Parts: sequence; C-alpha cells; structure tokens
Amino acid sequence: MASDIEGKVVVITGASSGLGEAAARHLSSLGASVVLGARRVERLQSLSDELTGRGGKAIAVATDVTVRDQVKQLADAAVEKYGRVDVMINNAGLMPQSLLERLKIDEWDRMIDVNIKGVLYGIAAALPHMKRQKAGHIVNVSSVAGHKVRPGGTVYSATKHAVRVISEGLRQEVKPYNIRTTVVSPGAVDTELPDTITDPDVSVAMRKFYDDFAIPADSFARAVAFALSQPPDVDINEILFRPTRQEF
Ligand SMILES: NC(=O)c1ccc[n+]([C@@H]2O[C@H](COP(=O)([O-])OP(=O)(O)OC[C@H]3O[C@@H](n4cnc5c(N)ncnc54)[C@H](OP(=O)(O)O)[C@@H]3O)[C@@H](O)[C@H]2O)c1
Repeated sequence: MASDIEGKVVVITGASSGLGEAAARHLSSLGASVVLGARRVERLQSLSDELTGRGGKAIAVATDVTVRDQVKQLADAAVEKYGRVDVMINNAGLMPQSLLERLKIDEWDRMIDVNIKGVLYGIAAALPHMKRQKAGHIVNVSSVAGHKVRPGGTVYSATKHAVRVISEGLRQEVKPYNIRTTVVSPGAVDTELPDTITDPDVSVAMRKFYDDFAIPADSFARAVAFALSQPPDVDINEILFRPTRQEF
C-alpha cells in the first residue's frame, strides 16, 4: 500500500482534529506529503511539526472552508510547496443536530456553509490543478447520515446527502481529466464532532450513542488509504463503514 501513496501530495481540510488529523498522520506515515487546512492553526502547526519531526513532509495553512479564497490558497499552497495536488480530501464539517422546531437557523446556515459549500469550494480549488495535471483524486466526506435520516438530524443529513450527490455528479463530469472521486460515509467515530451540538437533549443522547459505539478515527484513515492506494485505473467511488455494533 505504501508504494501507491508514497510521494502523493494530499490536501486535507479539517485536519486539526478527528478524522482529518487521523488521515494526515496515517497518510504521512505511508509517505504522502500532507497539506493541512483548518481554522485552529496552532493545532495544525503542532501536527505539522510532529510529522516533519518524524521525517515526513507537511505544511499547515490557516483555512476557513466557508471562505472560498482561503480554500483556493490552501490548494495553491500545495502546488507552490510540492508542485502538484494529487488528492483533495474535503473533510471539514460540523454536526449541530437539533429538532427543526427548535429553529436553530444559524446552525442550519453553518452546516450548509461548511458541510456543502466548503466541499464545493474544495472541489473548485483542486479541479483546475487536477485538470492541468490530467490526474487527481477528490475525496469527499459524507456520513451514514448521508444515507439515512432521523429526528434531530434533518439538516445534517441533508448536507451529507448533498455531499453524495455532488460526489456522484463530479465523478461523471471529471472522466475526461482522469480524476478519481471517492465519497466516504462513516458511522460513529470517536472525534470532537458531537461537541458541536448545542441542543441539550440531542447532545445527551448523541454523547451516549458515541460513548457506546464509536470506533477510533484511524478506521477512517485506513478507508481513505485503501481508496488512494488503488492502481490508477481503479476508482473506488463509495465507502460506507460503521462500528460493527452500530445499528443506525
Ligand atoms: N465522527 C463521526 O462520527 C463522523 C461520522 C460521519 C461523518 N463525519 C464527518 O467527518 C468530518 C470530520 O469530522 P470529525 O468527526 O473529525 O469531527 P471534528 O473532530 O469535530 O473535526 C472537524 C474538523 O472540521 C474543521 N472545521 C470545522 N469548521 C471549519 C471551517 N469553517 N473551516 C475549516 N475547517 C473547519 C475543524 O477544524 P477547526 O475547528 O480548527 O477549523 C476540525 O478539524 C465531518 O465532515 C463530519 O461530518 C464524522
């Protein structure tokens, strides 16, 4: 596996914690050069220092994925530093779930801005480079909630369904440019994601769900590595995985 990932230039949004951080560590250990984006730049910098201290190649770029110029600068930084963008992982996201009747409309807006528009901005940032290279791989992070919905999760599920639709449309459109696309849909993984919930009822229930079921974030990292390590003529388009004990 390492030989197929070795030397690849991988841009990751939301690399300051959780799935993005785990992917950065794993892909760096397999020889990728990682370009780390998120808002908490001190966490990114310390991850970057750790990876370079182990002989890896990494840079940290302060990035708010709701600001399209910043996402463009993130992808451009990869090209400036390492000469290309082989992989763009659009991972940044948040999950402030609540019942619609609670009218947490600012949180709906935030999920749409980060989970949908942030992914689109990531695609927009990477595509021109990948078209020019006539090669590339875009990985978008959806969720089990991108396949299902239940009360309290309506807007989050809508954003994650949107990520799957965007990924499938992208898959069909980028065939002429030899670009691969993968959408990864995790179940409960132990990260800071439940901390974004402000509704007390949902927060308690979700915290229990995560405490009971969540699996470590390297599960995601290995799934991404599987997709990236395929030979160039193999395009892994969808990965859906859950904790073995998770029913939903
Ligand atoms: N954990 C799960 O069970 C699970 C399951 C299915 C899907 N997912 C998806 O996995 C992705 C990663 O979440 P996680 O579980 O790793 O949660 P997490 O630990 O809370 O990480 C979320 C990441 O997104 C970044 N982020 C949030 N808003 C951002 C913004 N405006 N601009 C740039 N970065 C931003 C955060 O960085 P900063 O705060 O530093 O900006 C952080 O690095 C999300 O898309 C989530 O929906 C997670």
